Amino acid sequence: MPRLVVVSNRVVVPEEGNPSAPGGLAVAVEATMRGRDGLWFGWSGQVADEPPAFTTTERGTVKYVLTDVRPQDFQEYYNGFANRVLWPILHYRVDLAEFSEADFGGYLRVNEFFAERLDQLLETDDVLWVHDYHLIPLAQALRARGRANRIGFFLHIPMPPPDLLTTLPHHAELVRALTEYNLIGFQTENDAGNFARYLTRVVGAATPDGRDYHLGHQHFRVGVFPVGVDTDGFRRMAEASVRTACAMELEESLAGRALVVGVDRLDYSKGIVSRIDSYERFLEKYPEWHSRVTYLQIAPGSRQEIPEYADIDALVNARVGHINGRFGAVSWVPLRYVSRNHRREDIAMVLRLARIGLVTPLRDGMNLVAKEFVAAQDPTDPGVLILSQFAGAAAELRAALIINPHDRDTVADAINTALLMPLEERCARHQEMYAVLEDNDIRDWGRSFIDALRRPGGASNWLSNRFIAN
Ligand code: F6P
Repeated sequence: MPRLVVVSNRVVVPEEGNPSAPGGLAVAVEATMRGRDGLWFGWSGQVADEPPAFTTTERGTVKYVLTDVRPQDFQEYYNGFANRVLWPILHYRVDLAEFSEADFGGYLRVNEFFAERLDQLLETDDVLWVHDYHLIPLAQALRARGRANRIGFFLHIPMPPPDLLTTLPHHAELVRALTEYNLIGFQTENDAGNFARYLTRVVGAATPDGRDYHLGHQHFRVGVFPVGVDTDGFRRMAEASVRTACAMELEESLAGRALVVGVDRLDYSKGIVSRIDSYERFLEKYPEWHSRVTYLQIAPGSRQEIPEYADIDALVNARVGHINGRFGAVSWVPLRYVSRNHRREDIAMVLRLARIGLVTPLRDGMNLVAKEFVAAQDPTDPGVLILSQFAGAAAELRAALIINPHDRDTVADAINTALLMPLEERCARHQEMYAVLEDNDIRDWGRSFIDALRRPGGASNWLSNRFIAN
């Protein structure tokens, strides 16, 4: 089997003796790499004036190769184009996008830099899997170096409709760069459909199935690969976690109150402020629950050099203070806000103990917390998932209470419904969602993407096409 080379902006090297990696993309990729002969390449998370050639670490069959980036690159590529232009626009927040040509230049420069470094490590039959919006132009930069390997791209975040995507300066150039991949993967049919609509309307390319494209000399495929979780592993972790001292302390502090939980990176796309407002509405509308419920919001800080992220931190703090001041009592804190990072075991424990999982992003590629919440539940007495219709996970977890996160009254009512939901209904909903998770486990995600990428027919004739073109 050819070697799998994964490229992502963040790389998490598992600590020796503790194979679990934190959060989202990193967990999903780590599960795909496990047991394979592989290389995982990306940013070290460090900024240095003169980046060293590489730092290489080996864990089992996987080699981790990391590079630092220069301060200007960090600003323009990561804080700039990736997170102040692509992130907001792909999350439908055109109003927050701050574009500059310098940032775009930095974005292209870092992709070139990654390609140059990666090129030194590649073998001709390596299969490459590139992850997320930071690295859209990477295949193009590798192709320019003569690399004809099969290269796939997976977008972990949403793909917006063409009306929004076309607000992105240089959108045509970026979509053109995407077509250099053999396979482009999305989280949901909605995302793939939006991309197909862009190709039809803006580029004039259409196929009957919206999957297999011939564009000039390019031939690429589009697919839907909803990312899953390690269902059984997370369930076991959650089961074991409730026997820890930390779990007992939490239970004791709740004093029998129902626990409502939100776990997110502190990001405007997660809808934390609207969620807190909805909780306030719930406390206004349903005073019978006062002193009987505790909402715990865990939201570790993120991308803090970007102004919108500093703003949201201040906003959340103010809202938390307001609610606790307005509704709290000497013996009851209605809302606990924790912005420290937590170990996955502790997150699993908090999700397991929760009566309600509040997952209400305004827009989200998938949202793995929703899936982890389901995996963590005790099937004989499960909690209820309240899930935004705008999370990718809502396409699969139909048995959650699906809500519009912009509608405070609906969310408030859903909290009340969840608290009152009879055991039989909770079990039935949980069973249905757990079956969905088992059907599309984290290993299925990696396997199906790589199988599709390796399948002959879907492109990979880039070199011969280029040859014909010349
Ligand atoms: O899932 C989207 C994503 O941007 C990943 O690419 C990334 O690893 C994660 O969120 C956390 O973001 P950051 O790396 O900017 O902290």
